[in-house]
Amino acid sequence: MRTGLILGIESSCDETAAAVVRQGRETLSNIVASQMKMHALYGGVVPELASREHLRNIVPVVREAMQQADVTDSDLNAIAVTAGPGLAGALLVGISFAKSFAYALGKPLIAVNHLEGHIHAVLMQQQANEGPILALVVSGGHTHLYLAQQREGTWHYRNVGRTVDDAAGEAYDKVAKLLGLGYPGGPWIDTLAAHGNPKAVLFRFQEIKRRDASEEATFDFSFSGIKTAVLRYVETHGMKQQIEARRSELASLKPTDAAQLLDHQSLDVIASFQHAVTQNLARQTLRAAQHFGARTILVSGGVAANRELRRVFAEQANIPVHFPEMALSTDNAAMIAAAAWPRFVAGEHATADLNATPQLRLG
Ligand code: KG4
Ligand code: ZN
Repeated sequence: MRTGLILGIESSCDETAAAVVRQGRETLSNIVASQMKMHALYGGVVPELASREHLRNIVPVVREAMQQADVTDSDLNAIAVTAGPGLAGALLVGISFAKSFAYALGKPLIAVNHLEGHIHAVLMQQQANEGPILALVVSGGHTHLYLAQQREGTWHYRNVGRTVDDAAGEAYDKVAKLLGLGYPGGPWIDTLAAHGNPKAVLFRFQEIKRRDASEEATFDFSFSGIKTAVLRYVETHGMKQQIEARRSELASLKPTDAAQLLDHQSLDVIASFQHAVTQNLARQTLRAAQHFGARTILVSGGVAANRELRRVFAEQANIPVHFPEMALSTDNAAMIAAAAWPRFVAGEHATADLNATPQLRLG
């Protein structure tokens, strides 16, 4: 008999996703309909368009996830859905669908925090039972450090660091835009940085000092300064005209074909920006890991796909660092179904009045 099957649904931003996962670990299907191309036309996610696309995609995506997993409605044990954080209208599409589906099937509904989902994208593939774990969730909307620990089957989280302004992925996207590269900026910068000199320009990070309510040190990030520093560099080095001249030509290319269109100076700025950001993320995470005596580090979220970030952690860490496989780094529903599993086992069901919580916190 097939038991422990959870259908996960994710629609918090610009990906409509559904997945069937068995007992929080075995992925039977993982379908993602990305709206990236549509939002790329506007250089960022347009909330109204995102909701409309989720509405269009949700039924076919769920159907495909069920078919690929070869499961019927009655095989499912529960429906899990992202309740927040994210765009209100986008979240509502997934939540409304999941609520109706769960009600129609008479199955439990489980609400999942998107950030917890990102952490479970790693946990579903790694045995990381030796706590405490330090988790860096680094995406287009978030840059958070959590201490995570499992006690009697339940995961507990404590937020020990966060960005005080932009998220790291947001900085990638904004810097890519100001350099005339495509959207989302992460994959462009990741690819093009290999062609530049990471030591050419020194972009510095300021130390952020903050203490939480218990006067414990926190390990915060700030990424708006580096975006301004890149902008200032571009302006003072007379690069603007050239950037605008090549912008439309670059938009039609893939990142892998774009290096030949870029001059050395631009490639050096790209490599130097990436060097500074990845060093900063790793340094702050490793300092926090040492401070809290973490035994393992998990890195997840869209920016976890970054190859330089993976390399820097591998080079600098003296405790195990786990990343999700590439397909589970960016938004997906397998991570939502995986995060729901311990809650399902504990009988933590959502009620029919579940609503979208755009600013939902973890820990
Ligand atoms: O987790 P995600 O898919 O959505 C959010 O929850 O935000 O993350 C998307 C973010 C974007 O900012 C994108 O530029 C960044 O992840 N990203 C990357 C890479 N791939 C995606 N950043 C750096 N390097 C990459 N290879
Ligand atoms: Zn995400």
